Amino acid sequence: MNKLKRYVKETPHIRYSNCHEDSDFALQNIKGKPEKILTIASGLDNSLAFLLLEPRSVLAIDSKEAQIYLCNLKKCGIEHLEYEDFLSLLGIGKDNGGQIYSRLRPYLDKETVEYFDSHLFLISEIGIVNCGKFEYYFQFFKKHILSKTHSKKTVEAFMTAESLEDQNEIYRKKYNNLRLRLLFRIFFSKTVMKKLGRDKECFAYAKGGLSAGLKDKFDRCIECNLNRDNPYLQYIIQGKMASLPTYLVKENYLKIKKNIHSLEVRRADFAEVMRENESYDLMYLSDIFEYMSEEETSFLSEDIYRNLNKGGQVLLYNMMIERHLCGKLRETELDQDKNRTFYYRHCYHYIKE
Ligand SMILES: C[S@@+](CC[C@H](N)C(=O)[O-])C[C@H]1O[C@@H](n2cnc3c(N)ncnc32)[C@H](O)[C@@H]1O
Repeated sequence: MNKLKRYVKETPHIRYSNCHEDSDFALQNIKGKPEKILTIASGLDNSLAFLLLEPRSVLAIDSKEAQIYLCNLKKCGIEHLEYEDFLSLLGIGKDNGGQIYSRLRPYLDKETVEYFDSHLFLISEIGIVNCGKFEYYFQFFKKHILSKTHSKKTVEAFMTAESLEDQNEIYRKKYNNLRLRLLFRIFFSKTVMKKLGRDKECFAYAKGGLSAGLKDKFDRCIECNLNRDNPYLQYIIQGKMASLPTYLVKENYLKIKKNIHSLEVRRADFAEVMRENESYDLMYLSDIFEYMSEEETSFLSEDIYRNLNKGGQVLLYNMMIERHLCGKLRETELDQDKNRTFYYRHCYHYIKE
């Protein structure tokens, strides 16, 4: 934990080693079969999940170099490794990730090898799924705060209940206590998130923290989704994923492996890619507009419209601030309760008609 604490202060460091955006929710809400997809890479998990749609191409971009090294590692791992070895590479398999990395090393590009050779402990000690700054924030949260709010027995019962009725009864009677409510106020405040989890640039346009309204969203998420099937919540509350995110489910992994040649990972800024005037059927844009002003968002809305094919779609998230695409795109209603990543205020879906 101390090594990771030092690492996340280095430049460059991995910010997100997983995507904390619900890929099943995204897949459920994509209409039809997009052939050409543009995604914000982050930890690459959702870009990989979109390969299940068997598109002609997925271009996964990220402006941060360490994210690209991570994505190259994951992509190359899927290309060359069997399922169990890939899990070990990520730090959730039977073998040590370091051994698997040395086998994969000859297939990796020079920059990615240089990065992980000089940060081998991320693979062999910390585990790739735990090595980003955001993951460090969640681990800190679990170790120092969450472990003091409920007994192990309550957590276990809450996270493994077999029906929504049982889960909600445990929530009402045991889990939803005063300490939990206080924790929501403190942990998701702007000050704490800024210090531990997210970069300063994420807050340039944010007025408050996440706290307001978040507890209600959490309540709804618990009401509507089984915790035992929610790897995102498991990671926050238990520090590990007892169920796997979409791209890591074995049958999905095998399909993704078959289509991995359709994925390109590129270091680029979204605005730069928009200037290439390539057209796409789907743009998956994470919450990148939170880093931008309303003017920039509105400017990019026009580029997005121009670069979408007819019937093309956009999915984007809002966490701390409201950012909408404007212009001629039609917004469609999504059932937000099905989104297992409750910490987003909203996921927006747009269509070019
Ligand atoms: C917007 S952040 C949010 C992460 C997300 N909430 C999650 O948990 O997966 C996702 C990624 O977007 C990248 N990013 C932010 N703005 C970008 C831009 N304008 N162009 C390309 N990548 C961008 C960041 O480097 C980061 O890796």
